[in-house]
Amino acid sequence: QKEPVIISIKNDASAPVINKNIYGHFAEHLGRCIYGGFFVGDTSKIPNTNGVRNDIIKALKELKIPNLRWPGGCFADTYHWKDGIGPKEQRPTIVNQWWGGVTEDNSFGTHDFLNLCEVLGAEPYLSGNVGSGTVQEFADWIQYANFGGKSPMSDLRKKNGRTEPWKVKYWGIGNEAWGCGGNMTAEYYAGEYRKFATFMADWNNSGGINRIASGANSSDYNWTEVLMKNIPLNMLGGVGVHHYSVIDWNKKGDAVNFSEEQYFKTMQQALKMEELVTKHAAVMDKYDPEKKVAMVVDEWGGWYDVEKGTNSGFLYQQNTIRDAVLAGATLNIFNNHADRVRMANLAQCVNVLQAVILTDKTKMILTPTYHVMQMYNVHQDAKLLPLSFNSPLYTLKDQTIPAVSASASKDKNGAVHISLVNIDAVNKHKIEIDVKDLTSKNFTASILTASKLQDHNSFENPNKIVPVAFKGFENKKGKLEIIIPPFSVLVLEGK
Ligand code: AHR
Repeated sequence: QKEPVIISIKNDASAPVINKNIYGHFAEHLGRCIYGGFFVGDTSKIPNTNGVRNDIIKALKELKIPNLRWPGGCFADTYHWKDGIGPKEQRPTIVNQWWGGVTEDNSFGTHDFLNLCEVLGAEPYLSGNVGSGTVQEFADWIQYANFGGKSPMSDLRKKNGRTEPWKVKYWGIGNEAWGCGGNMTAEYYAGEYRKFATFMADWNNSGGINRIASGANSSDYNWTEVLMKNIPLNMLGGVGVHHYSVIDWNKKGDAVNFSEEQYFKTMQQALKMEELVTKHAAVMDKYDPEKKVAMVVDEWGGWYDVEKGTNSGFLYQQNTIRDAVLAGATLNIFNNHADRVRMANLAQCVNVLQAVILTDKTKMILTPTYHVMQMYNVHQDAKLLPLSFNSPLYTLKDQTIPAVSASASKDKNGAVHISLVNIDAVNKHKIEIDVKDLTSKNFTASILTASKLQDHNSFENPNKIVPVAFKGFENKKGKLEIIIPPFSVLVLEGK
């Protein structure tokens, strides 16, 4: 590469704070995410806290997981929360119509999930059933979880062993209402939303509740337009968007054995997030110029063919350095749009799609995506430092995408963090960043990379891809000169 990429940093007082909730996760009753993933039951030999694996709790705490969305996904619109409370042996079963047709015993329910969130220090984000549930059922769930006084639902909660309300802030009104949530039109869903939202009292929950609308499928801007136009802003805390990086829904390709061309196509899909966020935000700006309503990208990530020999309804896939690059680039997009994107949830947390954790009986591994989320957690609640630069291009055959992705922030202690991704599968890139105007003088860096695009962590070799200290940069009198290797994610810290 001839010319270096020149990145300039603006120390802009009016820049937004990056909401920590951008770093959220998602746990659905799907495959081995809850059962056999998080939840092994309190009689398991695997060390656990009330049935949830201790190794997962530890890993997610270290990740600083800010929020967790549950119980779906598509499952949410079939879920009846009252089936998951009370004595476990008396709970009815449910057949998971969306994911593998398996029968569940409802042993992981509201108490298990909300107590887990407390242990993790994460905000719960509950998706309520609109598709096959009732307004009353939904309103009762909020009263059960949030009401501190005397009421039928708070009495029931106390009878089931929990005195204090959990004060759940984030409530999703259905999921993918345009698809598995009921195949509704945007107009019909907006009406349903208004009805459900009307009866969702916050039951004196001092923080108030945040109602989140089931959002658009990728580039369906009309969906966002109809919701913004038809739902009064005071009823709307957030509007969702779902976007998966899929090469082709009929031919997604293997999660590990992929070509450079497939890698390129995955990145094309991942980088589409920039356009999606920009265009959905433009629609929202028309109706909400003060940006009161959050954009909530409550499902995102890479989606490949399931691992051979596993249940096709369980969506179990490995996670390579491709996924780390995808995550790093996507999180940079969210950071840079922090004025509107205020929550996001990677799909999904354990054993499903772009998981941060994989388990196999007693074993547990952290994926390359986990390491990116951990390297980037320094951006949580830090002030965005807007960047400007022209990215070099990564070209394959006759197609091009930007090769370099970046974002930066300054945390409460004044430390600066710059996250850089080299998406290019072949070329390293030279980057220059002028940091003279920043108070930070001493820089250190860590990098996540691999020798091959297909490299991943396995149960036999769990630490093949881990972040390491990076020395490939120099601070030349306030100008950082960095050589970033192909397919790598780098975070610089300046103090
Ligand atoms: O994350 C898997 C599924 O993808 C979710 O259940 C659904 O909302 C989406 O289509």
